Amino acid sequence: MFITFDGSDGCGKSTQQKRLGHCFQAQGYEVVLCHDPGSTALGNEIRHILLHGHELRIDNKTEMFLFMAARTQMVEEIIRPALQAKKIVISDRFLLSNFVYQGYAGGIPLKTLETVGQIAVEEMTPDLAIILDIPYEIAIQRIGNRNASDRMEQKGENYHRQVRNGFLKYATIYPDRYVVIDAVPPPNEVETAIRNVIHERYGIDLSCSPNEIGNR
Ligand code: TMP
Repeated sequence: MFITFDGSDGCGKSTQQKRLGHCFQAQGYEVVLCHDPGSTALGNEIRHILLHGHELRIDNKTEMFLFMAARTQMVEEIIRPALQAKKIVISDRFLLSNFVYQGYAGGIPLKTLETVGQIAVEEMTPDLAIILDIPYEIAIQRIGNRNASDRMEQKGENYHRQVRNGFLKYATIYPDRYVVIDAVPPPNEVETAIRNVIHERYGIDLSCSPNEIGNR
């Protein structure tokens, strides 16, 4: 099974990805976590350029290709082999982030992204794509608390408001592809909402014991 988390910066998807992975493991599943862009040696180099190449000129289209290239490597090196081995793969971001950040907010036509995306990941589509939704104001507080400002985070308020709208728009257009979960409540509540979705869709009960939750 291939599950992805997407959402605005600061939505808490990295936390939820790890928690979900832990719950699947507690039920005896083999789990592979990955992070787009990144997770491979090449992907991490590209990630560094994209997030910390402040001194570089990076055209919007180049940015799109770099994200796609990192993802192709991650699909071929990590995701495809893991799925073939019947493992659960949970990715922190995937193609939808490209559609929203470089497309909806960045201005690259959707058709272009779909065409390049098809080449980049071929038929690799998530079984479950979760969008964690938070308003811009809360996202910015969380990012501020993290004290990090990378190249993407520095794109400004308008861009990031567009990002949030873009995620919600995709979810409205393709309700069968994306599940939106309110990411404003505390992490335990968000986690429960995610587990409920998995239970409803796949009949898998991911209740972890309180002890395991305490050890996270
Ligand atoms: P992360 O903070 O979730 O690791 O993502 C890094 C940043 O890259 C984040 O601001 C979202 C952005 N991003 C894109 O703009 N396009 C993409 O295709 C992906 C995967 C991430």
